[in-house]
Amino acid sequence: MEPQEITENMFFRQPTPPLIVKTEGVYIHFADGRKILDASGGPMAVNIGYGRQEVAEAAKKSIEKVSYVLPVFASEARIELAKRIRKIMPADLGRIYFCSGGSEANEAAIKLARQYHVLTGKESKHKIISRDLSYHGMTIATLSMGDIKVRKRDFKPMLWDSRRIEACYCYRCPFGQEYPGCGLECALSLEKLVLKEGPDTVAAFIAEPIVAAAAGGTTPPPEYFPLIREICDKYNLLLIVDEVVTGFGRTGRNMGLDHFNAVADIATFAKGASSGYAPLGGMAVKDEILEQFEQKRADFQHLYTFSAHPLACAVANEVQRIIEAEHLIERAARMGDYLRESLARLEALPLVGDIRGKGMLWGIEFVKDKVTREPFPLEKSVKNSIITDCFRKGVFFYPGYYEDELGRGDHILISPPFIITEEEIDQCVDILYETLTESMDRFYL
Ligand SMILES: Cc1ncc(COP(=O)(O)O)c(C=O)c1O
Repeated sequence: MEPQEITENMFFRQPTPPLIVKTEGVYIHFADGRKILDASGGPMAVNIGYGRQEVAEAAKKSIEKVSYVLPVFASEARIELAKRIRKIMPADLGRIYFCSGGSEANEAAIKLARQYHVLTGKESKHKIISRDLSYHGMTIATLSMGDIKVRKRDFKPMLWDSRRIEACYCYRCPFGQEYPGCGLECALSLEKLVLKEGPDTVAAFIAEPIVAAAAGGTTPPPEYFPLIREICDKYNLLLIVDEVVTGFGRTGRNMGLDHFNAVADIATFAKGASSGYAPLGGMAVKDEILEQFEQKRADFQHLYTFSAHPLACAVANEVQRIIEAEHLIERAARMGDYLRESLARLEALPLVGDIRGKGMLWGIEFVKDKVTREPFPLEKSVKNSIITDCFRKGVFFYPGYYEDELGRGDHILISPPFIITEEEIDQCVDILYETLTESMDRFYL
């Protein structure tokens, strides 16, 4: 196909995107014959791998039986999926809501939090606190909460002023401290901001358990989320945990927050819920929040035509069945350990500043100076050049978006499907190692 034929009627972010004609296992096949190992996993979505025939069959059967259901009605697929997800979530997150993606899920979560406070007589609670170096989606509200500057820049006048606390980012502690002597100042900053804003005005706090594209794989210390939970309880804030990336086994446990001995009031999800086979997002909500709606006979004022689409639910049911039957979450933990061990040899390279993450979600941050942790200047375009070179050699990694005050910063994400083999991990790491050693001179010139 000619380039202009690809772009003629399409709306793309890059001038001529490569055309994908087939996907299978951990591989993407392009129209020009290239076969690329997808170490980005979709990105961070295709947990079971590409091309499973059983999922295709489930989709076909679903459309044949029930092609669409107005979301005020129920479908068998939706009921079954809610049951499955309830089993995966912490015990008290028993009410499951479905939409079509991660941005929608986070938008729904903040509206639910607001409506909950209205129903419980706390009308003044409406502000949402989020964190620096976070990402929650592309809608106006979720962009407002997040902190990927390049994505916000042109929309600034349309966005609300986000109320953000510092990131939990030990490699570059915003308070210049070092764990464990830091006293978790990053978590305590939530209390400070709540008090500054007025506890009666704050509805919820939202955070990713392990950060994905906004600060590749940054992982909090064990005390962080328990402390955040305590502060939320003290000031009657709902804790919304954005599990869009970390949910459904990505970090080697069911949910990302499962690593941290804390439970959310609302856990949002998308990506891995359907493993990328169908657009599906949603949230799991504490029973007591929904009980307020039931007692007061109030509706959650948030519904899309495609909420809980039966096709997406049927596909996700089959995906979750495969994950359970093939023990893929356990596999993500096991192969994640192997991946981390394999990445250890990169640590000796002068430009590798930090490697962090869990399970099948790892970030590598590149620095100009390992001692001072100074990032490379923007014009070196380090992460993009690494990603392009690796792609040319047969592996695709996902670019991250960490930015310092000058807009610099480089990291990539490694988040392959859980079915990746040790040999395929070796191949990814070999190509990355070779690319880094070959290109180093260019970056340091
Ligand atoms: C942590 C996180 N939250 C929310 C989103 C938005 O999800 P979606 O792209 O499905 O709207 C993303 C997308 O990458 C994400 O990484």
